[in-house]
Amino acid sequence: MNTAHREAILLTPGPLTTTLRTKVAMLRDWGSWDSDFIAVTARVRSALLDIINGQDSHVVVPLQGSGTFSVEAAVATVVPRDGHVLVLDNGAYCKRAARLSTLMGRKTTVAAFDEAQAISPQSLEAHLQADGSISHVVMIHCETGAGVHNPLHDIAEVCARHGRGLIVDAMSSFAALEIDARRIRFDALIAASGKCLEGVPGMGFVFLRREIVAACQGHSQSLAMDLHDQYVYMEKTGQWRFTPPTHVLVALDEAIRQFQEEGGQPARLARYESNYRTLIQGMAALGFKPFLDPTIQAPIIVTFHAPGDSRYEFKAFYQAAKRYGFILYPGKLTQIETFRVGCIGAIGPVEMEQAVQAVRLALRDLGIASGAPA
Ligand SMILES: Cc1ncc(COP(=O)(O)O)c(C=O)c1O
Repeated sequence: MNTAHREAILLTPGPLTTTLRTKVAMLRDWGSWDSDFIAVTARVRSALLDIINGQDSHVVVPLQGSGTFSVEAAVATVVPRDGHVLVLDNGAYCKRAARLSTLMGRKTTVAAFDEAQAISPQSLEAHLQADGSISHVVMIHCETGAGVHNPLHDIAEVCARHGRGLIVDAMSSFAALEIDARRIRFDALIAASGKCLEGVPGMGFVFLRREIVAACQGHSQSLAMDLHDQYVYMEKTGQWRFTPPTHVLVALDEAIRQFQEEGGQPARLARYESNYRTLIQGMAALGFKPFLDPTIQAPIIVTFHAPGDSRYEFKAFYQAAKRYGFILYPGKLTQIETFRVGCIGAIGPVEMEQAVQAVRLALRDLGIASGAPA
């Protein structure tokens, strides 16, 4: 398999492989205050709201930076300084959310769950009953650390019943897993350009419930991360407050056009599920074992146990797969050795079959007979 003639395919949860159309969209410069660019900002914001059926209930505020910038901005903007955040923690991105909430001076409590399990609405119920001071709950929809699909609908229902705010990090699920703002009540939901919309990285966006926006004024202790100010300025001028990521936005605009042409969220999910099935079947034939139970596995990123063979070492395995044109991702679990393979990006089952073939050749090059764990 000679893949030297093409760029490597990213089997990572963002940055990910984008289409040529998306890349080509970036071959032009834009004035940030120019009416053409203002029109792109407005079009992207409207299209994002359409994806969650949120035109009536929510606004969307884009923000410069990687996804974490938007998570931090959402917590800073939505949670008052004397608020109390409960983070439902079943993985690395939950821990990051708890850390940023703590660093920003918000009282933060962590409800810990096993990273091989989904977070539990019953446990949330008990926490909220026991502590009336919890003002906001933070959850991760797809915990990209292991790949768990957390029960957004049920968690939102518990929060709504108890009258507490809900902040959802939907970074790696938005546009692939269904999120319908007409059926799920949340105060803030965060995602980014370079994930399942298949744009390039460089900006995030936060959906805010219309009813809470005005009350968010003055919450943020940061100038640059204040989504309320960004929203007010954007509504007034159509412009971003500070220098926008112009090329990232026009690439996202083009990526959204392709998302719509493909058939929107249901079609994207179907393609990722097909990628996932192809991957799982192919890897099983090589002896590999997924870390998660399939019932809680999101078709976004799959964690595999490392092969038990003593010749296995991730860096060498990674380099070997890269020689065959595929970029794998290290594991993010603390206790056991794993690696991850993303199912998202502008790729289909054919590329996933090739990815499995690349893994097969990588094992052969390392002298490893089987991917079976110890
Ligand atoms: C669940 C989740 N939250 C947040 C992030 C944001 O990470 P970053 O700031 O590196 O874009 C990611 C990135 O993969 C993610 O998967």
